[in-house]
Amino acid sequence: MKKVLIIFGTRPEAIKLCSIILALKKEKTINTKICITAQHRSMLDEVLKTFNICPDYDLNIMQESQDLFSISINVLSKLKPVLEEFAPDLILVHGDTTTTFMAALAGFYFKIKIAHIEAGLRTFDKYNPFPEELNRQLTTRLSTYHFAPTKLAYDNLILDGVKKSNIKIVGNSVIDALKLMLEKIKSNRDLEKDILSSLNLSFCITNTKFILVTAHRRESFGIDIENIANAIKQIALHLPNVHIVYPLHLNPNIQIPMRKILGGLSNIHLIEPLNYEKFVYLMNKSYIILTDSGGIQEEATYLHKPTFILRNTTERTEALSCKTLRLVGTNKEKIINAVLEIFNNDKIYKKMSNPKNPLVFGDGQSAKKIVQFIKKI
Ligand code: UD1
Ligand code: UDP
Repeated sequence: MKKVLIIFGTRPEAIKLCSIILALKKEKTINTKICITAQHRSMLDEVLKTFNICPDYDLNIMQESQDLFSISINVLSKLKPVLEEFAPDLILVHGDTTTTFMAALAGFYFKIKIAHIEAGLRTFDKYNPFPEELNRQLTTRLSTYHFAPTKLAYDNLILDGVKKSNIKIVGNSVIDALKLMLEKIKSNRDLEKDILSSLNLSFCITNTKFILVTAHRRESFGIDIENIANAIKQIALHLPNVHIVYPLHLNPNIQIPMRKILGGLSNIHLIEPLNYEKFVYLMNKSYIILTDSGGIQEEATYLHKPTFILRNTTERTEALSCKTLRLVGTNKEKIINAVLEIFNNDKIYKKMSNPKNPLVFGDGQSAKKIVQFIKKI
């Protein structure tokens, strides 16, 4: 029987892999095992709980304020005995985290074939996003099979010299996860009530305009994060009837400056990271989104949500031509102006909430296509 090991470590990897794990587990001819590095702990565990996924191996590497060296060293050294014990025929990794790159490297050292999901996204700027751009490029070099979400990603892989027959365009599996969650919420009125009561926000989500915010990128730590925080503060002061909901990433580099600058304002709600159910619910009800997240750019396009990207580059350029997303960077004035403009101009709002191709990142069928391909390997 073919042995497949899926290795991942952070919240977004888990969300984007859940549909693939569930589909692979149903295949009787494949022995699928799951190894989490737990580069994230509680944020990862929340996703595993939501999708009822039970790992076979848990490397449990997360440390408070970890750096790239400790993540890399721990993933590599702790994976060695797992790969020796299970000896998979194929390793699946996802995206661009340090777990992704190190898991691919570990597999390469044992000459195990790697399949890379969400392959081919590029900014071509080595330090932006950092270290994700290089993590993804190097994972391409280490992988044999490449699941590209879009034609643009496919073209980037061809430019990198990857063999056509080893690439499959499958869409982005985040849309599989998003659709699953939207269905779950829609089909269960009690769940919506539970979500609303557990969010416990001081305004009525269903009839108030609110802005949903997330920010966590390493290259923004320091001055750029402070600029983003000061922009959010000014927006809250300019728009006192608008609420801003911000589930703060657990990284102390985010928690400390954001709480210091944004704490105490009555229309800013700094909350804990949300489980995927609650976050999808909030995204869907939000008026606009401000984010530096990769996954949320894809989800927002599918959900028709005007979104301002708090970064200077994006590897999801398809969304820019869709018009739902705009790059605003980390300049305080630029962020404030963009947000005030959309609140004051319905035409802009309508244009941004009406994407040319909302399915540009996928239609929810990625897991099926990936499993079909893996069965033929
Ligand atoms: C990581 C990935 C990034 C991805 C992001 C998704 C790397 C280098 N970075 O960045 O590509 O976009 O995850 O969120 O791979 N923490 C907790 N509990 C958790 C998770 C994090 O306390 O469940 C805190 C810890 O103090 C930890 C810190 O956050 O040391 C940073 O975590 P880390 O994975 O290094 O970086 P992220 O910014 O989360
Ligand atoms: N997300 C979540 N809870 C939150 C914030 C985000 O479930 O409080 C989800 C979001 O819907 C998306 C993913 O987490 O699918 C994005 O993760 P993150 O921003 O950490 O990483 P990135 O996408 O930037 O790699």
